[in-house]
Amino acid sequence: MMMRLAILVVALFAGLQTTVAVTTHVVGDTRGWVVPAEGPIFYAAWSAKQTFILGDILYFNFTTGAEDVARVTAEAFLTCNSTNPIALVTTGPANFSLNSTGEYYFIGTLDRHCLMGQKLAINVTTSPGPTPSPSTRTVPENYTVGDRLGWVIPPLGEIAYISWAYNKTFIVGDTLVFNFFNRSDDVAVVTKDVYNSCNTSTSLAVYNNSPAAITLEKTGEHYFTSTYNYHCEFGQKLAINVTGSTGSPPSTPGGPSSGAAEGPNVALPPVSAAPSRIPTSYLLILFPIAMAVF
Ligand SMILES: *[C@@H]1O[C@H](CO)[C@@H](O)[C@H](O)[C@H]1NC(C)=O
Ligand SMILES: *[C@@H]1O[C@H](CO)[C@@H](O)[C@H](O)[C@H]1NC(C)=O
Ligand SMILES: *[C@@H]1O[C@H](CO)[C@@H](O)[C@H](O)[C@H]1NC(C)=O
Ligand SMILES: *[C@@H]1O[C@H](CO)[C@@H](O)[C@H](O)[C@H]1NC(C)=O
Ligand SMILES: *[C@@H]1O[C@H](CO)[C@@H](O)[C@H](O)[C@H]1NC(C)=O
Ligand SMILES: *[C@@H]1O[C@H](CO)[C@@H](O)[C@H](O)[C@H]1NC(C)=O
Ligand SMILES: *[C@@H]1O[C@H](CO)[C@@H](O)[C@H](O)[C@H]1NC(C)=O
Ligand SMILES: *[C@@H]1O[C@H](CO)[C@@H](O)[C@H](O)[C@H]1NC(C)=O
Ligand SMILES: *[C@@H]1O[C@H](CO)[C@@H](O)[C@H](O)[C@H]1NC(C)=O
Ligand SMILES: *[C@@H]1O[C@H](CO)[C@@H](O)[C@H](O)[C@H]1NC(C)=O
Repeated sequence: MMMRLAILVVALFAGLQTTVAVTTHVVGDTRGWVVPAEGPIFYAAWSAKQTFILGDILYFNFTTGAEDVARVTAEAFLTCNSTNPIALVTTGPANFSLNSTGEYYFIGTLDRHCLMGQKLAINVTTSPGPTPSPSTRTVPENYTVGDRLGWVIPPLGEIAYISWAYNKTFIVGDTLVFNFFNRSDDVAVVTKDVYNSCNTSTSLAVYNNSPAAITLEKTGEHYFTSTYNYHCEFGQKLAINVTGSTGSPPSTPGGPSSGAAEGPNVALPPVSAAPSRIPTSYLLILFPIAMAVF
């Protein structure tokens, strides 16, 4: 009897093992866990290409002594604060089991490694997220810009809104809902030039009250940012391409096939000229300022 039960249990487990495929994500792929020359965008881009499922493993490949890895809070991630990490592993390579859903934040604590871009944010879910079917859509939708992140200076820079817009189809009649803090942010509708230069002294319209709901009335490219100091430079900027509501197949120029080979393959949005205009050195200079601001 016991024997049979044991066999049954073993069989059940074997069944589970085959259905639940555990993925080991090698952080940074062949680059491993290093200070990336590109700055924070490197791991942001890597992360955006992955789907992290409950039970998966994160494999941080690094040399003991040269690097370390700490799991930290969102706030510590943002400010590169390595005091009181949730967990710290100093011997490499290191595995982290993703045993709960939600966001995980990792930084390197040595020297200025985090400030220079050795930081990773991921989101763990229970199932491969809903793949928005790029079928032709005619019924307008409401989109919450940035989803739960809202409309803020994104911790990882502009990649956040690039990724958000990626694979989304916008049609005339859709509404963008921007959630932000009154009096510490706003939504400026701007031209492509302003989007690129972050010179926000001129804008087409500014919305001061959150939530700001902006209905897309025209096809073509639309650009949004904030007029508050440095917000645009730090990546609070959104570019989208609105197609007609009559359901021409959504064009995804700069999609996976035509995307840049190495860089933020994540998420070249329709507006392919825009991404990653801020040179890394600029980010490096500005990051400490951001910390001061925060
Ligand atoms: C980890 O890094 C070492 C040294 O760079 C490399 O030889 C090895 O293949 C890497 N392992 C993985 C799983 O990428
Ligand atoms: C870093 O975090 C620690 C504890 O979490 C906190 O006491 C400290 O004030 C933080 N430092 C900065 C510069 O925010
Ligand atoms: C990390 O996990 C992988 C895959 O499960 C395993 O092959 C490897 O031995 C583990 N390495 C360490 C250092 O625990
Ligand atoms: C996840 O793993 C960590 C460290 O291994 C452990 O402290 C924690 O209790 C685990 N959480 C769950 C929900 O199993
Ligand atoms: C969008 O939101 C507005 C009000 O916030 C609501 O009236 C409208 O029905 C929503 N549209 C869709 C498609 O959800
Ligand atoms: C993480 O994933 C959950 C579930 O898909 C989602 O609700 C949440 O907004 C995501 N968080 C971030 C920061 O993307
Ligand atoms: C975007 O869509 C393409 C094809 O439609 C798919 O291969 C890719 O995984 C999607 N990317 C994301 C981040 O959803
Ligand atoms: C920003 O734009 C305004 C008008 O569009 C211009 O007068 C100003 O010189 C620009 N500032 C910079 C720093 O380029
Ligand atoms: C922002 O201000 C508007 C108008 O005063 C108000 O209706 C709205 O509730 C405020 N939003 C937040 C998030 O405080
Ligand atoms: C925006 O979409 C239109 C229609 O699909 C397309 O013709 C145009 O090239 C797109 N613009 C950009 C910058 O991708």
